[in-house]
This record gives sequence, structure tokens and C-alpha cells, in this order.
Amino acid sequence: MDSVVSFAGWMPAGLQNAAETGTSVRAVIFEDDIAIWRGQDGLARAWQNRCPHRGMRLSYGIVRENRLTCLYHGWTYDGTGGCAHIPAHPDLVPPKSIRAKAYGCVETGGMIWVARSESSEPPPQISGTWMPCRTMQVNRSLTGLAEVLGTGKANLALAMGAWAGQLRVAGLQGAVLLAVQPMGARGAMLHACVTGPEDLTRASDWIESLRGHLERPIAA
Ligand code: FES
Repeated sequence: MDSVVSFAGWMPAGLQNAAETGTSVRAVIFEDDIAIWRGQDGLARAWQNRCPHRGMRLSYGIVRENRLTCLYHGWTYDGTGGCAHIPAHPDLVPPKSIRAKAYGCVETGGMIWVARSESSEPPPQISGTWMPCRTMQVNRSLTGLAEVLGTGKANLALAMGAWAGQLRVAGLQGAVLLAVQPMGARGAMLHACVTGPEDLTRASDWIESLRGHLERPIAA
């Protein structure tokens, strides 16, 4: 399954609250290394996690107002990805060709979703109000996940197909929105949102038990 499934369309990249205002975080989806950052304008942006200068990860960068400054030599990029300032050449107007590579980035369902710039798929629209609950890393490849999910957790097979789906979980008042962020051989991240604060604790416990289920040994 890993060999044929790859980055396509819109993919979940984290819970909304993973990228707080004024911060930059890293997200890996298959082989794509992505920096997600949020400026003072509240917008989440997703860029290739590689500074156009010498390749430093932009997820280590410093966010001020609506700009991201690379940690290494201080090149600063505006909110569109264009280079706005090079400290070693303060009087230079940076060429327009110096740009961070941007992904599409939207927020819906309490999560951040990204798409490669060439994608023509419309962004996902998840109805309802969803509250970020918990993210967990699962130490199992997509192939392994598919095998386990196919043996007794039938509802989750639906979630895998679309990278996200709603589930009913015993003991919770509302539904759980579960998204799978595949990271290739590095496993996957599971992101869970709930419909209200009354379910936060139980849903958090549930996703932890789900991880145990997903990581259990597969019978030969
Ligand atoms: S590597 Fe980013 S400014 Fe040099």
C-alpha cells in the first residue's frame, strides 16, 4: 500500500492549535517536509521546510508579525513566501525569484490541511464545530495500519480512505473526527477532534488506547 499511496490532494497536517500565533512547527507527510507557521494576522501558512538560501528548516524560524525569519542567516520572508530582507545586504531589494515554496493551507474540522501548489482539488469543508483534542504518533507504516484497521475496526477503514472520518466512540457524548497523517516509513500521526469540551478527556484516553491497538503485533 505504501508504494502506491502518496501525497495527493489535501492532507491533514495537524490540529489547529499545534501552530499557535507567532510560532512555526514541522509537519511531515509522506516524504514532504513542511513548515507550518501562523502570523499575527491569524493565518496559518504552509511552506516547504527548506530555506531557499542554504536549506535550513524554516520550522526553526522566528515569526514576527506576518513574516518568517530563517534562523541561520536571517533571510526574512513575507506572508506570501517572497524574500523581503537579507541582513548581509540591507540595502538590497531581494529579487522576486527568491521565494519559499508554498503549499495550499486551510483550516477546517479543527485541523490544518495542506495541498501541493499544483493540486487542483478543492479544499475540504468539514461541517460542524470541532475542538482539537489530541495528536498521537503511531509507530506503524501505512501498510501495517491498513492491515490492523482491516481486522475488527471496520469504521476506521472509512477514515483511512479519505484521511479523515467521523466515528462514534462508546462513552462519548458526541462524535470523534479522526484524521490520519501518513509519514511513510516513519509511521503516522493521528489527530482527533471532538464536538465539545465534555468529551476531551475520554477522547484523549480513547486515542491512546487506539494507538496501543494499532501498534500491537500482527499475527503472521
Ligand atoms: S539558510 Fe536560511 S538564511 Fe541562510
